[in-house]
Amino acid sequence: MSNLAYDSRVEGDTSPQDIAMMQSLRPVPRISIQAFCETDGVANPIERAGEDRRMAKAHLKVHMGGIPTAIEFYHSAPTPNLIILESRAEPKQLLEQLAELSEHCDPSSKVVVIGHYNDVGLYRELIRSGISEYVIAPVSMADIVSVVSSIFVDPEAEPIGRSIAFVGAKGGVGSSTIAHNVAWAMSSLFKSEVVVADLDLAFGTANINFDQDPAQGIAEAVFSPERIDEVYLDRLLAQCAEHLSLLAAPSTLERVYDFDPDAFAQLIDTAQRSVPLLVLDVPHLWTGWTKSTLVKADEIVITATPELANLRNTKNLVDMLKRLRPNDPPPKLIINQTGVPKRPEIAASDFAEPLGLTPMSVIPFDPLLFGNAANNGRMLGEMDAKNPVVSTINEIAHVLTGRSEIKTRKKAGLGGLLGKLSRNKK
Ligand SMILES: Nc1ncnc2c1ncn2[C@@H]1O[C@H](COP(=O)(O)OP(=O)(O)OP(=O)(O)O)[C@@H](O)[C@H]1O
Ligand SMILES: [Mg+2]
Repeated sequence: MSNLAYDSRVEGDTSPQDIAMMQSLRPVPRISIQAFCETDGVANPIERAGEDRRMAKAHLKVHMGGIPTAIEFYHSAPTPNLIILESRAEPKQLLEQLAELSEHCDPSSKVVVIGHYNDVGLYRELIRSGISEYVIAPVSMADIVSVVSSIFVDPEAEPIGRSIAFVGAKGGVGSSTIAHNVAWAMSSLFKSEVVVADLDLAFGTANINFDQDPAQGIAEAVFSPERIDEVYLDRLLAQCAEHLSLLAAPSTLERVYDFDPDAFAQLIDTAQRSVPLLVLDVPHLWTGWTKSTLVKADEIVITATPELANLRNTKNLVDMLKRLRPNDPPPKLIINQTGVPKRPEIAASDFAEPLGLTPMSVIPFDPLLFGNAANNGRMLGEMDAKNPVVSTINEIAHVLTGRSEIKTRKKAGLGGLLGKLSRNKK
C-alpha cells in the first residue's frame, strides 16, 4: 500500500483519496509562495500543487537547497507571502537555522516547515515561535494545497459557490436545454439559490427557455469587467423562479464576441461568491475562453448524442480535460436523444467504454416533450412532471450537488468501436 502511495506521488497520478480530499478545498488567493527544498520527493509535489487549478492565482517558485539557501536568498530579496522550507536537519539545528532566517524575513510572511522528524516537542516549539505549520515528509500534492489553503483561505469568508459547466460534444445535442432544466430542478428541489449564466452570447437560448427578455445581462458584465461586483451582478440577473435567476445572453449579432481567455473569470468568481450554485451554459466551441472556463469549473458535464462524431469529440474533450485537471474527477457524461426512430446509434455502454466513464444519465429522444417545453418557454418539469425524463433530470441534480452517486450499469462488449475511432484518427 505504502508503495502505491509513494508511486502515485512520484509518477504524478493523483490518488482517489487525494482527489476526494481536494474537492472541498477552495481556490487560494493571489499570493506569492517560495519553496526551498532539499529533496525531489518534496519538491515534486510542491511543483504539482502549483499547477492545480485551485492554486492558479498564486505565484509559486520552487528552489533547491533548504534553509541555508533561503537565508542567502533573502539577504537581498524581499520575502513572499509564504515560504515553504524543507529541512532534514535535526530539531536543534533546525531551530537555529530558522532563528537566523527570521532576521531576514518580513514579519508578515508566513512560514511552513516540512521536516523529517516526527517530534511533538519540536512541533510545539515551532508553532510557538510563529511557524504556521510543521508537516512531516513524505508529503503529497494534496497535502501542500491543503496546508496553503488552510493558511490563506479565510474561514470566515462567505462560502464559495459550486460552478457546474455544461458543454455539448457537438452543436445542437441538447446541452443548453439540459443545463437549464437541471438548474431549475436544483433550485426547486433543494430550495437552493441557483444562477444560470448563458455564455453563448450570440445564439444563447436560456432567455427563450425561461421565457425572459431582460434588458441587461451577461454582455454588460463581460464588456465592463471593471464594474463587476456583487451589487452590479445582482442588477443584471433576471429572476426566473423562486430560487433561480438568469444572466441572459443578448442573443443578438450587433457585436462580435471574440473574448480574451480570462474574459469570464471575474464574472464567474463574483457569481460564485454570491450564490451556492452557478450553472454555466458553455457553447460548443474550443477557444481560449471556453477552455479556461471549463478548466476552472468545479464540475464539467458533457452532453453527447450516440453517434460516432460525438464519441470522437467526447473522447478528445475528456482526455484533454483530464490532462488539464489531473487532480479532479473526470467530466460527467450525459448521452442524450437516444432512440430516434430509424436512426442507427451507438449503444450507451459501447459509447462509454472507450471513454472509461459511466454515463451519469441516458435521456431518450422525446420530441413532443422537448418541443412543447421549448416553444412555450417552460421547463420540462412544468410541462409534464411525471415524465421519466423529468425524473432523470432530477437525478442529475442530485448527483451534481453531491446528494447521490452515479448508478453504475453493466458493461457490454466494445463492438469494434475503438478500432473504428483509431482508424479514423489516422
Ligand atoms: N432528448 C431530447 N429529445 C428531443 N429533443 C431534444 C432533446 N434534447 C434536446 N432537444 C432539442 O434539441 C434542440 C437543441 O437543444 P439545445 O439548444 O439545448 O442544444 P445545444 O447543445 O445547447 O445546442 P447549441 O450547440 O446550439 O448550443 C432543442 O430544440 C431542444 O429542445
Ligand atoms: Mg447551447
